[in-house]
Amino acid sequence: MDKFLTGKVAVVTGGTRGIGRAIAERLLREGASVAICGRSGETVARAVKEMTATTGGTVFGQAADITHPEDVHRLFQSVDERFGNLGVLINNAGLGIFRRVADMSIGEWHQMMDLNLSGVFYCCREALPRFNNSGEGYIINISSLAGKNAFSGGAGYNASKFGLNGFSEALMLDHRYDNVRVSYIMPGSVDTEFGSGRGAHADWKIAPEDVAEVVIGLLRLPQRTLVSRVEMRPLKPPK
Ligand SMILES: NC(=O)c1ccc[n+]([C@@H]2O[C@H](COP(=O)([O-])OP(=O)(O)OC[C@H]3O[C@@H](n4cnc5c(N)ncnc54)[C@H](OP(=O)(O)O)[C@@H]3O)[C@@H](O)[C@H]2O)c1
Repeated sequence: MDKFLTGKVAVVTGGTRGIGRAIAERLLREGASVAICGRSGETVARAVKEMTATTGGTVFGQAADITHPEDVHRLFQSVDERFGNLGVLINNAGLGIFRRVADMSIGEWHQMMDLNLSGVFYCCREALPRFNNSGEGYIINISSLAGKNAFSGGAGYNASKFGLNGFSEALMLDHRYDNVRVSYIMPGSVDTEFGSGRGAHADWKIAPEDVAEVVIGLLRLPQRTLVSRVEMRPLKPPK
């Protein structure tokens, strides 16, 4: 029997580990053809090999630095050639550098803006005309509770995720009548290697698979309905 995403094509940026990896694996298990990327060809190839083995799904990977529009363009061209008919874009790749404003370098600021904001824009620009060809599409942006709750040491990351939320809402308003749905998910602490030094592995955190579950829930909703914003948080963070 067909799975509910059989015949669907999805791109997940930063699918080599963490939340993106869990989303890519889940999409594969639901029958989608999935393209992932990351900056290193070696890491991407390893992730593709492992996901093929664990899910038996159709997954393709390409080294692409999302902060470079020409890399993004090549990635989407490859997806056209491999799979055609893009239907789902998960803008997941993101970076957190946590410093007080006075201690943050200009380069660190730009790294976060280039990936967390501009990279999402480049991917959406590639995806939207392809959705036109497919007749519909779904963009899910992985934001953060840091997109609504500022904290000390978070100025750069907060700015990028507050910005991503605004971008996501305007994008939704721009394209809802083109059969394009846009959602953004704002998780609290998720158990990944993100923002190294900010916190080690901990059982109280959200599991990456839980974010993937929310993505699947959004995709399962009928085309007439859109959950545009999701907040999710660990039930019992340390007091
Ligand atoms: N973990 C959390 O607590 C948490 C909470 C809320 C929101 N988020 C958000 O969730 C998303 C994923 O976070 P995560 O925790 O899964 O992070 P992660 O474990 O550090 O994984 C990041 C992924 O993005 C890729 N990546 C990084 N820079 C890239 C670039 N320039 N171009 C292409 N790919 C790139 C990485 O691959 P390479 O290194 O191989 O390039 C990797 O696959 C981010 O947007 C983050 O802001 C995370």
